Amino acid sequence: MKILITGSNGMLGHDLQEVLKDNHELILTTSKTLDITDKNQVLDVIREKKPDVVVNSAAYTDVDGCEDNQDIAYCVNGEGVRNLALACKEIDCPLVHVSTDYVFNGKNNRPWVEDDEIDPINVYGKSKLKGEEAILEILDKYFIVRTAWLYGVNGRNFPRTMLELAKNHSEITVVYDEVGSPTYTLDLAYGISQLIETEHYGIYHLTNSESCSWCEFARFIFEVADVDVEVIPVTASEFARPAPRPSYSVLENKNWIDNGFKPLRSYKEAIKEYIELIK
Ligand SMILES: NC(=O)c1ccc[n+]([C@@H]2O[C@H](COP(=O)([O-])OP(=O)(O)OC[C@H]3O[C@@H](n4cnc5c(N)ncnc54)[C@H](OP(=O)(O)O)[C@@H]3O)[C@@H](O)[C@H]2O)c1
Repeated sequence: MKILITGSNGMLGHDLQEVLKDNHELILTTSKTLDITDKNQVLDVIREKKPDVVVNSAAYTDVDGCEDNQDIAYCVNGEGVRNLALACKEIDCPLVHVSTDYVFNGKNNRPWVEDDEIDPINVYGKSKLKGEEAILEILDKYFIVRTAWLYGVNGRNFPRTMLELAKNHSEITVVYDEVGSPTYTLDLAYGISQLIETEHYGIYHLTNSESCSWCEFARFIFEVADVDVEVIPVTASEFARPAPRPSYSVLENKNWIDNGFKPLRSYKEAIKEYIELIK
């Protein structure tokens, strides 16, 4: 297949390349070569390249930054996705779009399923929801893939920050009242590579299996990396950040399983492999 990837310099974009490059022809675009907020450029590039599928891994992902830069957030995560959907509609090609657990409000006592009520509580989540809405309005052939707590070799992320901090701190405070499923971008990319071989269009939750709090995740990272540091649990309100986060954002990978795909491995197995790779 001829696959056009947006945001290919990003954390997920990098691993999509790794996973897809051997079996597909890739058209790799970055914010410099394809700015998804530029409608004419999006239409021109997609008309010219005529991909069989577009995978959108471009986004404005700075969750706290979105609070101060709302225009950018809505422009990239909302309008940018609309532009891609319009272009895909025109050439009749499916769009894979990566969305987030932050479209939910976090107030649940069981993992979220795809058709649970969406109610984002920060600008990032609201802007990502605009992107989802544009796709639902314009396209029939789409995969909206909601994922969570990403980390990968090509970007800043929680495990890397923890390991960096541990180099010159003996104690680290970490939030314990936010729970989710840490997800390795390589595993997510493998998932996407399976989805695009099908026509099972729709909304998917896709994360590594099992869940934990940030605090438990930090402790597990240090255990695996054999680093001696004390993790001090704090509440999200003690650890003030500009954007509120949902307190419970575990995603049940229901459509994924219902469509016959194998669950992604446990986050514990995935983080072990990742730490081995970056240490
Ligand atoms: N990170 C997480 O924990 C997380 C959790 C849930 C869902 N997600 C979603 O997963 C996807 C991938 O996330 P990620 O962590 O891999 O993101 P990332 O590393 O921040 O990469 C995003 C990429 O998008 C590009 N980009 C930004 N604005 C653009 C524009 N106007 N046109 C084209 N490209 C643009 C960036 O390029 P420049 O650097 O050149 O600007 C960057 O390479 C995103 O949709 C994100 O919302 C992420």
